Amino acid sequence: MHRPIALLWAALEVRLRAYRHVNCSLRDEGVRRALDRLQGEPEFESSITPEVGELIYMLTLTRRAALIVEFGGLVGYSTIYLASALADLGSGQLITTELDLGRADRIRENLADAGVAQRVDVRPGDAMLTLQDLAAPIDLLFLDGLNDLYLPLLQALEPHLEDHAVVVADLSSKEPLSAYRAYVTDPLNGYASVTVGLDDGVLVSVR
Ligand SMILES: C[S@@+](CC[C@H](N)C(=O)[O-])C[C@H]1O[C@@H](n2cnc3c(N)ncnc32)[C@H](O)[C@@H]1O
Repeated sequence: MHRPIALLWAALEVRLRAYRHVNCSLRDEGVRRALDRLQGEPEFESSITPEVGELIYMLTLTRRAALIVEFGGLVGYSTIYLASALADLGSGQLITTELDLGRADRIRENLADAGVAQRVDVRPGDAMLTLQDLAAPIDLLFLDGLNDLYLPLLQALEPHLEDHAVVVADLSSKEPLSAYRAYVTDPLNGYASVTVGLDDGVLVSVR
């Protein structure tokens, strides 16, 4: 990581404050209503925070991501942020994978309720198996499942990463992440990484 960029990111250790342009999907009535409703459901405890949602929305737009892969969709809170960014780009595809079949169904329902289901392929099952056939290179990989799987999954998907792909890992204070962190912060592995101080921490890497 270039030092000035690392310092800039470190300076961003404040809450993100989003100012949205008029055509931003995150202002849509359906998207707002779905996100607000999900915040009142018990699963929200395991979801990303709205600030992390804003971050992955912005990264998707910045990267102009054609293919996003999400590991760990739960009931679709983070998925709605990613799908909203694709709606604003007017192109691209999101593959989200969720181990629990009932939750995968709820991701579909919640995306439809928000009005952003169009570009999303929900794959029920174990991410180590469901992501084996990818038709295009990955521009943005969002890791938000079992932290122990972050490193093996990243390594399995590395041959599919586009140049300068963005890899976002949502960290959990309850789970160890040392192997993943050591890997993406070792310069020999080709990643530039920085921790963003939102929630329990979000590790953003570019390769
Ligand atoms: C922290 S939650 C995801 C939260 C979600 N990204 C959000 O912000 O709304 C983690 C999810 O990963 C799923 N998960 C765990 N292991 C998995 C695996 N091997 N493959 C796919 N999903 C998995 C869990 O079932 C759980 O729903």
